[in-house]
Amino acid sequence: MHIKQAAKQLNTTSRTIRFYEEKGLIKPQKDADNDYRMFTDNDLLRLSTILALREIGMRIDTIKAILDDQDMNMTDYLNVQRSALFEKWIEMKDMIQTIDQMIERTTENTDATEAIIALSRHLKNMKSVRNNWEDKWHFDHQARGYDQNIKMAGYRFNVHQDYDKALSKAAETIHLQPTDICVDVGVGTGNLDAKFLDKAARVIGVDQSEEMLKVCTEKYPAIDTRKGHFLALPLLNHEADAIVSSYALHHIPDDEKLLALDEMSRVLKSHGQICIVDLMFKNMQHRTDMVRRFEDDGNSEAVYAIEDEFYADRSKLIEWFTARGYQVETYQFNDILSMIYAKR
Ligand SMILES: C[S@@+](CC[C@H](N)C(=O)[O-])C[C@H]1O[C@@H](n2cnc3c(N)ncnc32)[C@H](O)[C@@H]1O
Repeated sequence: MHIKQAAKQLNTTSRTIRFYEEKGLIKPQKDADNDYRMFTDNDLLRLSTILALREIGMRIDTIKAILDDQDMNMTDYLNVQRSALFEKWIEMKDMIQTIDQMIERTTENTDATEAIIALSRHLKNMKSVRNNWEDKWHFDHQARGYDQNIKMAGYRFNVHQDYDKALSKAAETIHLQPTDICVDVGVGTGNLDAKFLDKAARVIGVDQSEEMLKVCTEKYPAIDTRKGHFLALPLLNHEADAIVSSYALHHIPDDEKLLALDEMSRVLKSHGQICIVDLMFKNMQHRTDMVRRFEDDGNSEAVYAIEDEFYADRSKLIEWFTARGYQVETYQFNDILSMIYAKR
């Protein structure tokens, strides 16, 4: 088939096809007599894949990587693309909300310059918070050994003390109907999310680490794994009946935790439930007392671990939930591990 026919069949233009050829995405054979490009069925299939991936906004170099990779896993790439689109969508939503607020200020007040500058600064700050989180713990590298490491005992400071008990408590606290959707944020290797597989219609696991998601899928193929992060969940508004999260929230700073709760609320249904199991202190005084106790005991491992991460101030999270009309219950497993259950 010649280029014009191929373009017609695929509802595109010869120019577009030549562009993909220039970029090395396709290599049609040329007729020895007249040098015309000849497109086979395989070329057409490859071209329609390229067009479909461009349609969802995928970059040319990413498409090339997918098509050139012999062990390519299309799902992985689509997952990355979905996460990128959600991030963009959430950014656009923030921009639109800011414009709405600016319009409100300008209609209320003839000189709203200061308010507009303040709103645009806030928007800029939100953008940088969303984009600047870095995985300094290298979860991709931890993924394969994660389950084994949880079981390791003998440290002077064991953050995974009561791990099984805490996950079981979260699983029994969340009540699900067979039609419900349950989302685990920071799903890791799926240990908590898997407990909902026989209770919910759909169990979704979100994580920023692609390797963690791979291990999770290997262990529990029924979990719908999605790349995403606390501040940009790859879900539409009001999609989830329940959101759970274990041992993950302490990887983001305190002010971002409240943004993460905003984001969970965005995707949660009106009568939804949120259950967070994590390393946290009851309040700042409790933190100070605990750090002093570890220092007095010469337990530098504990002091380092607490300072390296962002153990929550539980009182701040409770305050956030109650101010937004959630009913809140808490459960304390040990000095540093708590559960917060919030029902809308
Ligand atoms: C200590 S593991 C806990 C995994 C699992 N929830 C569990 O209880 O075993 C923390 C997980 O949270 C994920 N995580 C950390 N920060 C995150 C963020 N900002 N957004 C999404 N996932 C995050 C990590 O990639 C990692 O898989």
